[in-house]
Amino acid sequence: MASAMKPMSYPPLILLLISCVNVFSIASKIADPTPAAWPHQFHSILFMNNSAGNLQVVDLWYDWPNGRNFNIIQNQLGKLLYDLEWDNGTSYIYTLDSNQECRTLRFPVGVLRPNWLEGANYLGQQQVDGFLCNVWEKVDFIWYYEDVKTKRPVYWAFYTGMVAHVMTFEVGAVLEDKNWQAPVYCFKEGVEERSPVLESVAGGGSSGVFTLMRGVFDGSMGQ
Ligand SMILES: *[C@@H]1O[C@H](CO)[C@@H](O)[C@H](O)[C@H]1NC(C)=O
Ligand SMILES: *[C@@H]1O[C@H](CO)[C@@H](O)[C@H](O)[C@H]1NC(C)=O
Repeated sequence: MASAMKPMSYPPLILLLISCVNVFSIASKIADPTPAAWPHQFHSILFMNNSAGNLQVVDLWYDWPNGRNFNIIQNQLGKLLYDLEWDNGTSYIYTLDSNQECRTLRFPVGVLRPNWLEGANYLGQQQVDGFLCNVWEKVDFIWYYEDVKTKRPVYWAFYTGMVAHVMTFEVGAVLEDKNWQAPVYCFKEGVEERSPVLESVAGGGSSGVFTLMRGVFDGSMGQ
């Protein structure tokens, strides 16, 4: 009788061990934090430094419900550039000085989605700019640092070597409608069709990086 009982005592133990392993591996997956989705409307001031050491201050007005996004880019002691993006794929990149420069670009994709960080790889915690951050990487394009305590973005590093320090992050701030009007001289010239990849080669500054982000995260590689 005893020899008949013995084999019976092993399978439950093995099952228990296997289920423990499963619980632990599931628990470690659940424990990976996920980045906060972007608020549907916010204003952020970004301090940018590209790989060549050129400095920019960017006013970022993200306005998802209205299908628009604005990067107002001040180059250090240089050009003030307005990069106005619409969700229908049209971008106006212009100056408001006497030079009256404007380029109208058409992209196959619209404004970055609030959940564009979904599926990013968690890399652990790291101290940056004096903040303890959770760090994620997405498609070898962006390394995203989010404050552990407040879940606000702190620092972004792009594959080009450009980095952005997030100086302010005002959730719910909206730029008045009248500021979203591209100047008349934007409607005289033709429209340049652009692929995001082309822009990554052509666009040296933050304008190029932000525009490229649209393509990378809203296009076929997104979500
Ligand atoms: C900008 O980046 C360059 C290259 O990484 C670095 O040497 C320089 O100190 C940075 N400047 C500022 C103001 O952060
Ligand atoms: C996209 O929307 C903007 C703003 O309303 C408009 O100026 C532009 O002509 C539109 N582009 C297309 C292709 O519909």
